[in-house]
Amino acid sequence: MNKKPHNVNILTLDELDSKEINHIIDLAIDLKKQQKKDKEKPLLQNKTLAMIFEKPSTRTRVSFETGMFQLGGHALTLSPNDLQLSRGESIEDTAKVLSRYVNVIMARVYDHKSLETLARYASIPVINGLSDSFHPCQILADLMTIKEHKKNLKKVKVAWIGDGNNVCNSLILGCAKLKIKLAIAVPNGYEPDFDVMKIGKEAEILEVSDEPETAVQDADVIMTDTFVSIHNTNSDRIKKFLPKFQVNQQLMNKAKKDVIFMHCLPAKRDQEVTADVIDGPKSVVWDEAENRLHVQKALLVHLLGV
Ligand code: CP
Ligand code: NVA
Repeated sequence: MNKKPHNVNILTLDELDSKEINHIIDLAIDLKKQQKKDKEKPLLQNKTLAMIFEKPSTRTRVSFETGMFQLGGHALTLSPNDLQLSRGESIEDTAKVLSRYVNVIMARVYDHKSLETLARYASIPVINGLSDSFHPCQILADLMTIKEHKKNLKKVKVAWIGDGNNVCNSLILGCAKLKIKLAIAVPNGYEPDFDVMKIGKEAEILEVSDEPETAVQDADVIMTDTFVSIHNTNSDRIKKFLPKFQVNQQLMNKAKKDVIFMHCLPAKRDQEVTADVIDGPKSVVWDEAENRLHVQKALLVHLLGV
């Protein structure tokens, strides 16, 4: 049962080609319209999603669960403590067993390798709901949000300021696929993953520096994220980022006039972004958060082939 077609795990974002990413974004925009008109079809009727959360979540958990419900399916939320994983059952065996009950697994894990193991032994699609290395669902929602606000993704320049973290890694992969120009400004020692940067450079879309003011020049979008991710143990790291890598009004003023501000949330006001920016007129963070719902519904429809 539940035979897995080729290449259907979404662990980084590199699994999707540009055609598939564009298709998911367009489907998400369509599903959003249908939902607003109360005209949704039960595209995932009788489908079940198992969600495993090793770490806390607001958006990922609520948007996946609500999305499954809105499309006529069902979602189960499981913490490792709910599963025999907490008593030593292996990820391998858990993957095989869940594959006999449900149609798709979404997992939020500390160590990206756990996801790779889950995906290797599951016979159904596995989606990364955030690991220490990648956050592909966030970037699908971000690309959708940019398309809604800027229309033509090909003409956009994105600037990422702050930590070269998991969200940034998936952003590079997404921009490389869609050929979106991306300028990253991070402190020395906080660069994104080396192999991921290589992909961005080979796609000729990526510039990496430690100069926020250079990165935001001509930018249509400025993005940042927390300086202390859930998997980071050293909160002292904030000192490396402040004040230079904070997105504030002065930095926003150096980008294009109609620049938009994005943040995957949760945000720490007055650390990575000032309150006047995130709560100001150029911020689209609430659209961005909402779009997690629509884009993940589109992703599930795409993966489950309905
Ligand atoms: N952006 C994001 O993934 O939020 P949560 O941690 O609340 O799921
Ligand atoms: N980089 C953040 C993203 C949270 C959605 C973290 O990993 O905690």
